[in-house]
Amino acid sequence: MQVIIVDTPEEAGRVAAEEVAKVIRRVGPGVVLGVATGSSPLTTYEALVDIVRSEQLDLSQASAFALDEYVNFPVDHEQSYTETIRRTVTEPLALDPARVHLPDGLADDLAAAGAAYEQAIREAGGIDVQIMGTGSNGHIGFNEPGSSFASRTRPVKLAAQTREDNARFFDSIDEVPEQAMSQGLGTILDTRTVVLIATGEGKADAVAGIVEGPVTAMVPGSILQFHPDATLVIDAEAASKLQ
Ligand code: F6R
Repeated sequence: MQVIIVDTPEEAGRVAAEEVAKVIRRVGPGVVLGVATGSSPLTTYEALVDIVRSEQLDLSQASAFALDEYVNFPVDHEQSYTETIRRTVTEPLALDPARVHLPDGLADDLAAAGAAYEQAIREAGGIDVQIMGTGSNGHIGFNEPGSSFASRTRPVKLAAQTREDNARFFDSIDEVPEQAMSQGLGTILDTRTVVLIATGEGKADAVAGIVEGPVTAMVPGSILQFHPDATLVIDAEAASKLQ
């Protein structure tokens, strides 16, 4: 695991975007991106747009798979992950919307929808580079503490902490969905490259657990210690509890 400590969230975005761009340049137009919602990757997406434009990187054949989507939540709601990915990733990077995928949180059979999502990732050739954040409790995707290391895309219950953290996107915590469909820890471990961005002191405990703690299901991000090509880009505040 490579850890890069920078001063500000903007710098984290620039450094993380360069890590992503390295994969895009190497793989070429058919690159398969793994994308996350939330605040952490926003500066990365902005910096990536600048790189893609200035180098005229061809993403016309690129596809993207989101880590997660809320369950039983209208996909046209502005806080759905379908809408969030459209606003922050698909449109700014001019990806083909038909090649941008999210798990189906409205399916009658969520387990089958999870299996279909895994199949779609396999058929695309696997995820070349997964861009992600971590929750203040160390979750990655919505694999909350206690998730199986072998888990694949499936319905999950959001931790109380996660619903509190995400309440800032809604008028009240009661509006935050209780369930999501999330790629599993096994899915994430299969990605070829991981770029995780964490900024702010609220992420300091999670970062310390991910980087230096024992590998444990109670800090799901700690499984990245087993990933062959994972880079964490963190700011000084998020790094403040590292030894
Ligand atoms: C989002 C996701 C989550 C977030 C995490 C951090 O698609 O999978 O794991 O990355 O909850 O959220 P922010 O970046 O808003 O602090």
